[in-house]
Formats: sequence, C-alpha cells, structure tokens
Amino acid sequence: MDVNRVRKDFPLYQQASPPIYLDSACQSLRPRQVIEAMDEYYCAFPACGGRSVHRLATEVSVRMDRAREEIAAFVGARDPECVVFTKSATESLNTVAKGLRLRKGERVITTDMEHNSNHVPWVLLARERGIRRGIVPFSALEQGDLEPLKEELEKGARLVSVVHTNNVDGSTIPLEAVVELAHDRGALVMADGCQTAPHSSLALDRTDVDLYAWSMHKMLGPSGMGALYGKREVLEGIEPLVTGGGAVAITSYDSAELLPVPERFEAGLQNFAGIIGSGAAVRYLREVGMEEIVEHEHRLNALATEGLSAIEGLSILGPPDPRRRGGILSFNLRGMLPHDVAMILDEIASVLIRSGMHCVHPYFAARGMEGCARASLYLYNTEEEMRQFVEAVGYIAERFMG
Ligand SMILES: Cc1ncc(COP(=O)(O)O)c(C=O)c1O
Repeated sequence: MDVNRVRKDFPLYQQASPPIYLDSACQSLRPRQVIEAMDEYYCAFPACGGRSVHRLATEVSVRMDRAREEIAAFVGARDPECVVFTKSATESLNTVAKGLRLRKGERVITTDMEHNSNHVPWVLLARERGIRRGIVPFSALEQGDLEPLKEELEKGARLVSVVHTNNVDGSTIPLEAVVELAHDRGALVMADGCQTAPHSSLALDRTDVDLYAWSMHKMLGPSGMGALYGKREVLEGIEPLVTGGGAVAITSYDSAELLPVPERFEAGLQNFAGIIGSGAAVRYLREVGMEEIVEHEHRLNALATEGLSAIEGLSILGPPDPRRRGGILSFNLRGMLPHDVAMILDEIASVLIRSGMHCVHPYFAARGMEGCARASLYLYNTEEEMRQFVEAVGYIAERFMG
C-alpha cells in the first residue's frame, strides 16, 4: 500500500503542518472522495429519496440503493436489504436492545469490556423490565477459552451481545466460535463491530451472526452514520425504535402496516448525504484493499509497540503481540493521568490521541484504573509518525513521570 498516495486524498494532510492524527478509533478522517460524494448530493440532486417520484428524488433513491449494496458487500452480507442505516452504532445497538421486547427474567450475556452503548441499554432494561445479565471475561474469549461463556449459557440466555474488537486494547474475540456455541444453546448473537468493520474483511453471512452493529464514521464515512445488519427473520422480529413516515405501507386512523426490512427501521427523512458518503467510504477502502490496510496497521503498530516497550515505567494494555491489537496501542505512564499524557502529547508534538475510560467505565473502575492513553491508527498513518509519537512519549516519560 502506498501511504503517500493515500495521504494525498485526505484534506487534513494538505495543510502546511498537519497534526499526527492517532484517534481513528473514535472517528476516522475522510478522503476527498467521500466529501465529493456528499457534495454531489447537495449540489446535483439535493432531494428526498424513497418518496417523491420526480427525477431528483429518483436519483437519490438509486444512489441510496447502490450505497446499501456496496456496504452489504463490504461486510459480506448477501442481501442488501438486511443492512439498516442508523445514525450510529449506539442507535443500532439500542434498536435491538429495545426492540427485542425482552421479558422479565430473560438473560443477556455480554463481556466485561463492553462500550457503554452495549452496556447502558441492558442496565436500564434490567431496572425497568427485570431482564438479567451474565458477564464473561473478554480476555478469556480472546484467548479462545469458551468455558466461561458455556457456563453462562447453561443458565439460559435469549441473547449474547458482545463486542467483536474492544476499543480499549484492540483485541478481538473468535466470533464464529461464539456464534456456534450460542446457537447450540438456543441464543441469538449480536456483535458490536465498531472496531472490527474498519479494520478487517468481514464475512457476516459465513460467520452466521444474527445481528451486527457498527459505525461508518470510524471507517472513512461521514459523521453521524451507523449501520445494523441482521438476518431477515431476526430483523422481522424486532420492533423499530422510531416509527413514522417512510417506514409504513399504509395507515388508517387506528392501524399502521409496517414496510418490510430495511425501510421499517428507517422512519423519517434520512441522512441522504451521509448514506451516499458511506457508500463512497467503503468503495475507497475496497479500492485500497483491506488486506493491505490490515498489513499496514500491523506494521505500524509493531513499530510503535517496539518503541514504547523500551520506555521504563510504561505499560501497554492488552496482548503483548501487536498483531493481536489491530490498529490500537493503549498505554499508561507510571504515576501520570492519561488526560495529562494526551494534552502534553498534543502540546509538544501535535500528536492527537484519546485518553480516559473510552466509554468502558466498569472495566477500568473494577481494576482501580483512571483509564489509559490510546493511540489508534489507520491506513493514512506513516512510519515516520510512529517514530515521532514514540519519541514524544519517551520525552514525556523522562520529564514528567513520577
Ligand atoms: C466498541 C464500540 N462500540 C460502540 C461505539 C459507539 O459508536 P457510535 O459512536 O457509532 O455510536 C464505539 C465508539 O467509539 C466503540 O468503539
């Protein structure tokens, strides 16, 4: 992969002194191809798709269908109608949590490393509807130990809802094995793929997962765009979170007939520019090549891991092998607050990372930790940026560490 060629597509890197952007796990940068696709919508056919029958509206509908097809193909889903557009992974996860209509006493199994978006809905449902929760250690699953999950499944579960790649240390669980085990015990499986979809070639049909949530803004797509994949029969059993115009076939004064999937989940005027931009994002990733992107990330992560490992008093979170951490490198400096590390990195070296608990509060709180500093990279980062990042962290360790 030619990273210099790639960087030419990203407006941020056309600035005179661009920062070193290492916060892609939160939100990625966007190439001009995505921005232009959105611009084209606003300039050439800025109408409402799916409703009016005039030429501009028809163009929007055609582009929306194309984006859905491209996104479905990108995640390995044969049927594009099984991909629902949402505004975020959070909305996708909430749609399932609220729409499954879980009853008092029914159980949901998660890991101990869920993002708040796959944690808070279950906490609230436990309080409001009396659902029960089982929690298995993410690290056991990551290492291929399915025993804790087996034990939880023995107690009965309607749904296993797990993060595929966690956003704290970047490690990934063997989803296919989880799905097989859960299906054996009669449970559905939903995975939070926010940190997986941007960094791997998914094959959702083959994985046999029932539901899969992710966000487009972490994979070169526009802000405020997410998606939910579901097997058709599973989606049909979920009550939409939002209902209204565009999601119904016909209504009377006392009845409403919902449209089939995916429209039943897409009520109200949609984010057409966002959807079209999301299509352009996966097209861009496909053209660069996911295998090459993954290889590039592994090379950069290995380089930075080697550099940081030499710093006395620095600890890296997660598996020592950088190949098991994708594009994420989280660390702590002895006696320093993660937010201080992040602010100093920005101040002295224009290195932009994320710090804190990364919306996974229970995990850190249970370990008595304030959080961590997280560098997350993507296809546009360079080896030179990794060197500067390591050098800046080394300087902070030398000057500020207790
Ligand atoms: C693992 C994981 N799940 C869920 C989310 C929430 O995603 P969104 O911002 O699309 O709601 C994030 C965002 O950082 C994440 O990393």
